[in-house]
Amino acid sequence: MCLMYRLFLLQTFIIVVYAQTSQIIRDYFVYKNVTRVVGFSCGDVDEDFLTLKLLIDIGMSTAIKPAGLQIDIPRYLDTDRTMGVFVDIRCPNQNISGIFNEGTTHRMYDYSYAWLIFGSNLNDSLQSLNDSGFSIVTDFAILLPNDTDYVLYDVYNHCKMRGGVLNVTWLGGWRENEGLTINLTDSRINRRRDYHGMRAKAAGIVLHRPKNVSLIDYLEGDSLEVMDNWPKFGYTLLSHVADMFNFTMDLVEIDHWEKNDSNGPLMGTLKRDDADLGYYPSILTIERYGYARVIFPQWPTRTCFMFRTIPATKMKPWIILKPFAADTWYSIILIVVITILILSCILKLERADDYGCSISALIAIAALCQQGFPSLSNQSASRIALIQITVFGLLVYNYYGAAIVSARLNEPLQKMNDSLYSLAHSKMQMAAEKNVFFNFLLRNPRPDVQYFRPFWNAIPESERFISLEEGVERIKRGGFAYHADPDDIYPSIELAFDKQMICQLTEVHLLKSELGLWSNLKSHFHEISKIA
Ligand SMILES: *[C@@H]1O[C@H](CO)[C@@H](O)[C@H](O)[C@H]1NC(C)=O
Ligand SMILES: *[C@@H]1O[C@H](CO)[C@@H](O)[C@H](O)[C@H]1NC(C)=O
Ligand SMILES: *[C@@H]1O[C@H](CO)[C@@H](O)[C@H](O)[C@H]1NC(C)=O
Ligand SMILES: *[C@@H]1O[C@H](CO)[C@@H](O)[C@H](O)[C@H]1NC(C)=O
Ligand SMILES: *[C@@H]1O[C@H](CO)[C@@H](O)[C@H](O)[C@H]1NC(C)=O
Ligand SMILES: *[C@@H]1O[C@H](CO)[C@@H](O)[C@H](O)[C@H]1NC(C)=O
Ligand SMILES: *[C@@H]1O[C@H](CO)[C@@H](O)[C@H](O)[C@H]1NC(C)=O
Ligand SMILES: *[C@@H]1O[C@H](CO)[C@@H](O)[C@H](O)[C@H]1NC(C)=O
Ligand SMILES: *[C@@H]1O[C@H](CO)[C@@H](O)[C@H](O)[C@H]1NC(C)=O
Ligand SMILES: *[C@@H]1O[C@H](CO)[C@@H](O)[C@H](O)[C@H]1NC(C)=O
Repeated sequence: MCLMYRLFLLQTFIIVVYAQTSQIIRDYFVYKNVTRVVGFSCGDVDEDFLTLKLLIDIGMSTAIKPAGLQIDIPRYLDTDRTMGVFVDIRCPNQNISGIFNEGTTHRMYDYSYAWLIFGSNLNDSLQSLNDSGFSIVTDFAILLPNDTDYVLYDVYNHCKMRGGVLNVTWLGGWRENEGLTINLTDSRINRRRDYHGMRAKAAGIVLHRPKNVSLIDYLEGDSLEVMDNWPKFGYTLLSHVADMFNFTMDLVEIDHWEKNDSNGPLMGTLKRDDADLGYYPSILTIERYGYARVIFPQWPTRTCFMFRTIPATKMKPWIILKPFAADTWYSIILIVVITILILSCILKLERADDYGCSISALIAIAALCQQGFPSLSNQSASRIALIQITVFGLLVYNYYGAAIVSARLNEPLQKMNDSLYSLAHSKMQMAAEKNVFFNFLLRNPRPDVQYFRPFWNAIPESERFISLEEGVERIKRGGFAYHADPDDIYPSIELAFDKQMICQLTEVHLLKSELGLWSNLKSHFHEISKIA
């Protein structure tokens, strides 16, 4: 009887304990506002059933996997909205490292997951974690029993890879009759914003740094040197982020681009986790999304070939024929011939002194050229003919005179369209500013770029790249197209060109795109850069 009673008491106690675990799970995820919960339990059927019942009663979809069951963890935890995950690590056959390592590999410590861990003591629980994937947004709580109550700890690590340490903070507690009490109510970003001077790595492409100036001085310096504008811009933005979140940046300088590297050295550096952030804004392309993550925002950018369109100084010989169309010239000649024949007939009929075709031609041409001519007969037919010739000559002559003047005045400046096709056909000499990403621009699959590419490749290797100063000088001389980033070249152009030359500048774009700042895929600094 006594034994029975004891057994009964024990069973009640166990049921109470289950009930508590299930209630904590419910209370915690209700507080977290999630709509789905999945769990890794120790496999007690009664407890799991109670948990399922409590969660389903409040409308959360739930799945619970008992310990020891082999399962595809990434698929089990796949979600498109915030999901609660609880893991009971108190049982011996729970695959703890499997779960936490998969979580690291598939970046499951971000906004999409709220983790709740059941442990029995803090040291063991912390030891079983894999915090390499933790970041400032990680939502990870450990629940430990304390006498009859429970305490909750909030765990995160800014970035283990860069020497961050695990921060364990008392989050709140759970009491049977009081339910859940949460002490840390401030937003995660806000309460974790101090990185304690952690050394993040930032990489960028810098090409024109003088040897005797340190990289940081060069990027911060506001000397008159106008090169490397983009890395200076990106660095300035990121240094504000660093100030806001109290971390420092170790800068990595990249100055060359392998020919066979299609996405660029910066993307490779980010992919290898050799850097957390890129301070060089880079073009957004689909392939690069597999290498790194875009932070925000995007800046429009362009590069172009520039040249002067110079109006012709010499008059072209055919311009004197320009005022009349070819048909008109033919009909004028025809009319003149007919006139000569008729005039010569009239003169013959009137028995004038001289009535050959030659004298008729002479008279007609003299009339057309507004010169005098002899009077050969005093009869009315020839007079009418002469008046007709004179009036015809007057009309043609006046119209021609006016048209040729207006044609000369309106001669259009033959500006080229903003088209690489036109540039390729112009047979203009070309060169470019030496830029690491020039070959990348030519790899663009746009049809005009691909059409243009062989024309560029036909230029001898040694003549393809020239310095900015020389480029500006040769644009000034004319007949030469130079490719550069407008931000680099316009300051020099402003100094070297007069107003008329600037008006004659024509741009043919090779690139029109958007730039973004990038962070690595593990993205420990992604969120704060975005927020900052
Ligand atoms: C849950 O949602 C409520 C109402 O929308 C909100 O007040 C509360 O702060 C949210 N809780 C959490 C942890 O986000
Ligand atoms: C633990 O989980 C990992 C990842 O899913 C798996 O590869 C491993 O076989 C599991 N180990 C055990 C003992 O179940
Ligand atoms: C954490 O998980 C990652 C990815 O699975 C693994 O490479 C790493 O070795 C794990 N770290 C520890 C301390 O287990
Ligand atoms: C936890 O570990 C630390 C050192 O790692 C030790 O000082 C402490 O006594 C341990 N606490 C318990 C309860 O085991
Ligand atoms: C654990 O319980 C004891 C006594 O009940 C209390 O003094 C202590 O503050 C509790 N610990 C935590 C971390 O709440
Ligand atoms: C959190 O705990 C501190 C000290 O233990 C207390 O002063 C504060 O009021 C608590 N905050 C909340 C929201 O319970
Ligand atoms: C640990 O994180 C809390 C906020 O969650 C913060 O107030 C505290 O300063 C941090 N401690 C360390 C050593 O970083
Ligand atoms: C930034 O971190 C350093 C190093 O931990 C610390 O001494 C300093 O007080 C922090 N600054 C701020 C503004 O929190
Ligand atoms: C770097 O060297 C150049 C000439 O070699 C000199 O004009 C310049 O002042 C030097 N800059 C610094 C910061 O020493
Ligand atoms: C490019 O070629 C070099 C050797 O020519 C090789 O070491 C390197 O791995 C290649 N890089 C890529 C991205 O293929």
